[in-house]
Amino acid sequence: MKKLLIQGQNRLEGTLPIHGAKNSVLPILAATLLTDQSVLHNCPRLSDVDAACHILRHLGSQVEREGDCILVRSGNRGDCCIPDGMMRMMRSSIVFLGAIVGRWGRARISLPGGCELGPRPIDLHLAALEKLGVRIREDHGDLDCQVEDQLRGTMISLPFPSVGATENVMIAACTAQGETVIKNAAREPEIADLAAYLRGCGAQIQAAPNGDIHIQGVSRLHSGEHRVISDRIAAATYLSCTAAAGGDVTITGICSEHLSAVLPYFEEMGCRLWVTPGAVRLQTRGRLRPVRSVRTMPYPGFPTDAQSPLMTAACLADGTSMFVENIFESRYKQVPELRRMGADVEVEGRVALVHGVPRLHGAAVCCTDLRGGAAIAAAALAAEGESLLSQIEHIDRGYEAFEENLRRIGADIQRVEEP
Ligand code: UD1
Repeated sequence: MKKLLIQGQNRLEGTLPIHGAKNSVLPILAATLLTDQSVLHNCPRLSDVDAACHILRHLGSQVEREGDCILVRSGNRGDCCIPDGMMRMMRSSIVFLGAIVGRWGRARISLPGGCELGPRPIDLHLAALEKLGVRIREDHGDLDCQVEDQLRGTMISLPFPSVGATENVMIAACTAQGETVIKNAAREPEIADLAAYLRGCGAQIQAAPNGDIHIQGVSRLHSGEHRVISDRIAAATYLSCTAAAGGDVTITGICSEHLSAVLPYFEEMGCRLWVTPGAVRLQTRGRLRPVRSVRTMPYPGFPTDAQSPLMTAACLADGTSMFVENIFESRYKQVPELRRMGADVEVEGRVALVHGVPRLHGAAVCCTDLRGGAAIAAAALAAEGESLLSQIEHIDRGYEAFEENLRRIGADIQRVEEP
């Protein structure tokens, strides 16, 4: 079993280029089903990306990777079923549903299981696809989906700006008959990136100034080439590691505007920041200060995915910080592990009160989920002594070359084989 062995308290210094965004490349890979051929640049090497490529191959596509470039040639096999094992490999595999019904007019997928962030329902995805003309039946734990005649454009008003539901509708609506309008659509940068890719393949998608997304159906999409945006959550994570462990790190290859809800918190903690459109330099100065309150929100608010890494920095601040998690129900799973390292965090429902301590100590800890795992690694980098992190496959879902990147900026971190 692979684990991460971290000797803490090394100052982090240097420059780190940030890889492409997991949450962009996954829906874009699903959308390649609607095109003949797609060339995607800046694709990160992640286990979730491998899982998406595996699903594409199962659906008859040819997928080749060279460096950070993935080439997908969609096949015409028409096997529109994703078996249970594949659905479970990647929690966001539901985003394939819109693409499969858009391409073949029918789909059969197993119901996605529960998830470590609390219940992760798909009711918004299904209600929206039904409005586009997909008949959905539940059959022995599978969803049996059939387009009656043709997908038809319509007005879809999302009760919550779900990222995945917005993506599913955008993809399915590209080749629907007529116009689809998504009201209360998600506004995450990854949504704009998916729209840019689809537009490059001939889709007619526009975001209105009020945030509505308008999609005028076209008969088919053509081949396309696209560069995936950089990963704002990986960027926020490496900045949080630097804030927690102390140091002076510049992250590059990013769009700093995508971090505008996150960066002010590092300043509130007393870090110095130098921000240019494509890079952020963060330098710590003495002990961190607490943050008054961090409330997770849909974009452009503070991203839920950056909550746990930032919480690690708050664990070391000189005072109490408050976190309010408004997106997912169980997103404080890392807290018991942080406590094993000496953190003082109280959780009551959606609220976490983080009473900063002067230092954390190394421990044997377990990665609870993707971002929680990154938060625990950040704590280990800051802690006195040695930590051994298990269940690191969670980290591999979302961070390319995690330990190589951290070693590059001075961390003492190794992947070890433990019996
Ligand atoms: C995406 C991101 C994830 C991020 C999240 C919120 C990907 C691959 N994942 O997840 O990293 O944390 O956005 O920014 O892009 N909901 C429902 N019914 C639905 C759909 C969602 O109740 O049908 C609820 C969810 O349970 C959750 C909230 O809406 O409480 C947000 O979910 P959503 O925006 O859909 O997140 P994902 O697309 O799953």
